[in-house]
Amino acid sequence: MMAKLLLVMIALSSCYCSAQVVQPPSPPKSATPPAAAPSTAAQEYLDAHNQARVEVGVAPLKWSQQLAKTASLQVRYQRDRQNCTFANLTKSIYGGNQLWAGGMAVTPRAAVETWVAEKKFYTYADNSCAPDHRCGVYTQVVWKKSVELGCAQASCSKEEASLTICFYNPPGNEAFPLENANLTTRLVCKFIRSFKSAEIAWQFFSWVTYQPGITHDIYTISRMITKLARHGCVHLVDLLLFKIQREGMKLSFSTIRLVIDFYGFQGLNDVN
Ligand SMILES: *[C@@H]1O[C@H](CO)[C@@H](O)[C@H](O)[C@H]1NC(C)=O
Ligand SMILES: *[C@@H]1O[C@H](CO)[C@@H](O)[C@H](O)[C@H]1NC(C)=O
Ligand SMILES: *[C@@H]1O[C@H](CO)[C@@H](O)[C@H](O)[C@H]1NC(C)=O
Repeated sequence: MMAKLLLVMIALSSCYCSAQVVQPPSPPKSATPPAAAPSTAAQEYLDAHNQARVEVGVAPLKWSQQLAKTASLQVRYQRDRQNCTFANLTKSIYGGNQLWAGGMAVTPRAAVETWVAEKKFYTYADNSCAPDHRCGVYTQVVWKKSVELGCAQASCSKEEASLTICFYNPPGNEAFPLENANLTTRLVCKFIRSFKSAEIAWQFFSWVTYQPGITHDIYTISRMITKLARHGCVHLVDLLLFKIQREGMKLSFSTIRLVIDFYGFQGLNDVN
């Protein structure tokens, strides 16, 4: 009697369990697709990124739950503690793109497309960006070395806005997409010369300063001074001359002449 009762209960319970498990994978064919499945947004972020990447021949990104979780924590922190403002990602170990949108939530695709829209202001040849634009969000989207992506969005009701953050791993938004393994000072000089804009050259020069395995020498500094002097960047020339003096470096004759010419010109301007 007891044994029979026990048997029935097990059967029931296992029947109940299998009903729960089996039913979802075989829905009627006419069922509406799951609208709010968590992976839908992820797929949309991913697709929008990979579409931009394929256009420039860069391998697709993979979705990372860990990055998505980090992004989710970050947007919620910004919403709850920072009035929905942009996160300070200076110290983040991941690359990050952010989008703040007033008045509404934005779809994942729209968020990514906002970043990709900066593409038209970016010039690949000299890695420059039109004034008042932030091409960095675009270059991060298509950054070759990044392989993983994770994104999240928070809706901030008080501010009537939304904040979207995507994280990328490995990070890839140093100002310059150089393979820096064998960056020589000779190569640095070549690059400085090749940039049309003194500002871009200066950014590059500063970026090199923080690269391991390379130190500016008299050649790179002279090259940079020449560039800055020709573009009238007095303040930065001063800064570099100070560095040369401090480190007891010697300038080439032609650089000295250029600096004298440059200061002479500035001096005349000051007098007039
Ligand atoms: C957020 O906004 C409130 C009210 O405007 C202000 O008191 C608070 O200092 C802000 N918090 C931060 C972190 O900016
Ligand atoms: C971001 O954080 C860094 C380092 O923690 C700090 O130096 C910088 O001033 C911060 N930037 C802003 C805009 O708060
Ligand atoms: C960089 O230099 C090392 C050795 O000096 C060499 O093995 C490596 O192939 C070089 N890398 C590139 C990208 O040229």
